[in-house]
Amino acid sequence: MEQFQLNHPTKIFFGENSLQEVGKQAKILGKIILVVTRGSAMEKTGIVKKLQESFTKEGVKGIFYSGMSGEPTLDEIQRAYEKLSGKKIDAVIGIGGGSALDSAKAISACLAEKKGITELLKSSSFSALPLILIPTTAGTGSEVSKGAILSDSKNEVKVGLRGESLLAKVAIIDPVLTYSLPKSVTILSGFDAFAHAVESIISTSANTFTRTLSEKAITDIYTNLPMVVKNPKNKNSRKEISFASFLMGYNLVFASTGLPHRIQYSFGTIPGMSHAMGLAILYPAWFAEAIKTIPEKMKLVGRAMGMTEKELASSTWQKKLQKRLEMFMKQMNLTKKLGDFNIQKKDLSLLADKVTGNMAMDPVYKGKQTILKILRKSW
Ligand SMILES: [Fe+2]
Repeated sequence: MEQFQLNHPTKIFFGENSLQEVGKQAKILGKIILVVTRGSAMEKTGIVKKLQESFTKEGVKGIFYSGMSGEPTLDEIQRAYEKLSGKKIDAVIGIGGGSALDSAKAISACLAEKKGITELLKSSSFSALPLILIPTTAGTGSEVSKGAILSDSKNEVKVGLRGESLLAKVAIIDPVLTYSLPKSVTILSGFDAFAHAVESIISTSANTFTRTLSEKAITDIYTNLPMVVKNPKNKNSRKEISFASFLMGYNLVFASTGLPHRIQYSFGTIPGMSHAMGLAILYPAWFAEAIKTIPEKMKLVGRAMGMTEKELASSTWQKKLQKRLEMFMKQMNLTKKLGDFNIQKKDLSLLADKVTGNMAMDPVYKGKQTILKILRKSW
């Protein structure tokens, strides 16, 4: 067992109706709280009303900002910063899917540093206003991670703002908020969490602690996600997925994601292709490559996906594991290819050139040829 060190400052509330805590926790951080959301969906589901009630009860003033899109762009963050920079704000709440939470993180840093987002991205360290993050989907784990992924639409890539100051003071994971999520959002966000689990288990930065969490998350998502797809009212399965998603956000502070995430970020904003959809397109090809290159690590994935020791000892275990992944994805209709998104085969090499970030964490990576091979098989 290797040595490891863990340091995570976030106070965590998990469980049904834990949203009730929000007013009390906000009050600890200040009197005037900026709430960043995606807007109409939050209002329709009554979440905004619940926040306002909780604030009123505790004597906290909320400023609501809802100008963010599904994949927040640098321009949107800049607009928010310019609109809000003159106001007195003590703390920031991000509530919604990963994009709302990432927007809240970026805006809180811009406001604390009094810098626009482009300038902030050049800083090696920066502060942020205290954050409370509340996910309404189960997938990104952004509520406990220290990164914010934003779209740079000019250069057509995604960029990451990363720093310790983006670790929330408080994360509230209330599975009730996911009970009425549409099927497509449930599938895509759940698959993102599954990808975090698989990529962090094989990561070169994994340790006994993170691997234990990854194993649990793979098993729980692999078992429960298809059950929720069949019966969206299955609260127990939704709770398990919320928990697994949170565990993987926590994990990503200590062990990184791998090639599928690095490649997906380089896609930038392809119309109709969300982060998780991009991952789902790349997964079968990357998974097959991983089985070939790092068989012992992939046996951990096989075990977590329910394969028996007898199956794993057979000469056909690689085929069986690949089949398991593909069946899991097929049940959820995750069968799209790059070609379905108007990407031309001749452009794959250009896409491969755009992949940046630390690839050393993924032992599957052997150079640009690995990325090209995955892209070609995913086309
Ligand atoms: Fe992700």
